[in-house]
Amino acid sequence: MAFHAFISDRLDALRRDNRLRTLPDIGERSGKYIYVAGESRLNLSSNDYLGLGEDRFLRDAYSKACREGGYAMTSSSSRLLTGNHHWYEQLERELERLYGREAALVFNSGYHANVGILPALAGRGDLILSDRLNHASIIDGTGISGAAHLRYRHNDTSHIEELLAGAHGRYRHVFIVTESVFSMDGDLADLRKLVDLKKRYGAVLIVDEAHGAGVFGQRGLGLCEATGTVSGIDIIIGTFGKAFASTGAYAVMDAVLRDYLVNTMRPFIFTTALPPAILAWSLMTLRKQTDMQGERIHLQRIAAMLRGRLADAGFEVPGESHIVPVITGSNESALNLAEKLRCAGVLGMAVRPPTVPENRARIRFSLRANLQWDDVEYIPDLIKAGTA
Ligand SMILES: Cc1ncc(COP(=O)(O)O)c(C=O)c1O
Repeated sequence: MAFHAFISDRLDALRRDNRLRTLPDIGERSGKYIYVAGESRLNLSSNDYLGLGEDRFLRDAYSKACREGGYAMTSSSSRLLTGNHHWYEQLERELERLYGREAALVFNSGYHANVGILPALAGRGDLILSDRLNHASIIDGTGISGAAHLRYRHNDTSHIEELLAGAHGRYRHVFIVTESVFSMDGDLADLRKLVDLKKRYGAVLIVDEAHGAGVFGQRGLGLCEATGTVSGIDIIIGTFGKAFASTGAYAVMDAVLRDYLVNTMRPFIFTTALPPAILAWSLMTLRKQTDMQGERIHLQRIAAMLRGRLADAGFEVPGESHIVPVITGSNESALNLAEKLRCAGVLGMAVRPPTVPENRARIRFSLRANLQWDDVEYIPDLIKAGTA
């Protein structure tokens, strides 16, 4: 079959399975609302969890600093050449100070971080134990590394312990990799237990705080801060593209690991560095969010209320955080429900395999601190009417 016809057939198969993805037409954002295909909708699908992207004071302060300082819009080169602008230095020292760890390293995105760190540190002769629901970037990094790998049952620390015991003496190093707040289920890893296991079995623990940073912990450092496990985790990864309302990612760790990543991590070495304009904004939002504990508490409160109401209405709503998924099962039912929400002026996006397991399609609501209970109170009734 000719190449283009072959690709076209594959697209048709995705369409038949209700799995075809298309790029939405996203317009302006204004507070709680977002324009999609020209229609204003209540935005319940954003990862700007603290609403910092909409913070007028912060944006004004940034614009003023831009006018005065004139941040460059490009770094024009890799960090190992001429791209290592002093904004990197400021941002990384601030991360080290906040986390109280020896070293921090900033990356272009969370995807870069996860597809780079594991292959730099693990390889043949090593074993990676990865949560079954870990993000695609962790799965890809694991695959690239060439290490042996096993996916443990979701959040099941007895299963991890069983695998650690079985691996004893058979590998050079054993890595445990988990998200802290699971991006699609909104539930939390048991970080204390993981630190205990990694110590007892001499493993290396890597935690991805993409959805925990900014949202948990007194200073928004993530679930590791909230559970007192910052110093027990070998590498904590956070992203700037979610609660920190910017772009890029970081990892905090010991200095020896940072030096090694700078020398060996391919997605760090072979890419153009972030521009000063982004780094300066990331530093502003990182600092700003440290004193937003009131917003964090409010966010968890409205999320718990929404989750409780949806569960009372008979829906399967896993998790215990600001990510509130309503499991519909089939792809078709998730798409139908998203369409019903659209008609009611709400953006609640359908998430389908391969992002989630087969027959676990869902609407993933992600709440933000700038929403009030009144904004979402009617959602359970709306969904009930939509699924009746
Ligand atoms: C758990 C997790 N890790 C990593 C990433 C990738 O981060 P980024 O969007 O900065 O590439 C995401 C987000 O999409 C994520 O959910």
